[in-house]
Amino acid sequence: MSSGANNRPTYARITGTGSYLPGEPVSNPDLVARGIDTSDEWIIERTGIRYRHFVASDETTGAMAKIASERALAMAGLDAGELDLIVLATSTPDFVFPSTACLLQGALGNHGATVFDVQAVCSGFVYALAVADKFIRSGTHKKALVVGSDAFSNILDWQDRGTCVLFGDGAGAVVLEAAAAPGVLSSVLRADGAQADILSVPGQVRCGRVWGDPFLRMEGQAVFRNAVRVLVSVAEECCRAAGMETREIDWLIPHQANIRIIDATSRKMGLAREKVIVTVDRHGNTSAASVPLALDEAVRDGRIRKGQRVLLEGVGGGFTWGAVLFEF
Ligand code: ACO
Repeated sequence: MSSGANNRPTYARITGTGSYLPGEPVSNPDLVARGIDTSDEWIIERTGIRYRHFVASDETTGAMAKIASERALAMAGLDAGELDLIVLATSTPDFVFPSTACLLQGALGNHGATVFDVQAVCSGFVYALAVADKFIRSGTHKKALVVGSDAFSNILDWQDRGTCVLFGDGAGAVVLEAAAAPGVLSSVLRADGAQADILSVPGQVRCGRVWGDPFLRMEGQAVFRNAVRVLVSVAEECCRAAGMETREIDWLIPHQANIRIIDATSRKMGLAREKVIVTVDRHGNTSAASVPLALDEAVRDGRIRKGQRVLLEGVGGGFTWGAVLFEF
């Protein structure tokens, strides 16, 4: 724990959540009707996904982030002008630069806050939340907006049925404020760049052209194996750092990529299925948005209550993974 300017410990508490899903739900049969060589049965059996949402052609990552942020600010009872930190996780930014976080800041009407993007793909929100927590604990910042927003439909190869059925678009946000009591209890962030190849978009914009491959590529089985392994170990590490066992948490919100990854992870952690928040069936994999979307749903429907302990977990391209444990 760190000390604030008054030498009393400062913690970071989540005081508001918000989220946004674009358009109408797109079902598995809708994908078949659009000409993708797949079936409702295959997608449900291998992934648990039934629906996902896609942005309209003129709808951006920043625009989704703005709606989710306004909803989180409204729950916190905060004006955007009061924020002194905005951290936005995305790997589908609106532009090469400025950062999508700066575009969001402008759209919200905030001036002068510390503002930047975090790029850790599907672990992005967990990375962003852990970073914002450290800013607040250091005493330098008091009111943060942390956002995960992604429009993966823009980087999917619609000829590749092994990936295009897995993802959806959306945004989620939380307001994090300095407080005298926790709040965030612990966080752990990890990565292994030696595994960059198993999940990537290996292209770039250079000299006015796209070089390499601008679509998402994935070795599905390698990602699956790694995801279960690191999600179990990082959950244990994060709980241990707070002096807890994983079975003592009230809720697990894992990255929503695949129901089989979620089930295998919670089984190995010894957690009852009733303690796991699941949205992958209705959202698909929304990358950096998946965890805050699920968090917002469970806060708004009353499952997550004041004083309960919630473990958030991310895993994704990089390879990256991490966890944040907090008391709501
Ligand atoms: N519809 C119908 N058939 C399909 C589809 C599809 N959408 N996609 C692949 N198949 C076929 C393949 O062509 C193959 O057919 P064949 O046996 O005739 O060659 C067969 O299904 C099996 O293909 P695999 O790729 O081996 O299928 P697998 O059982 O590994 O399941 C999946 C694929 C669902 C992607 C799985 O590997 C997985 O869940 N991996 C985890 C990846 C993940 O969730 N990534 C999300 C991003 S990463 C993250 O967020 C952490």
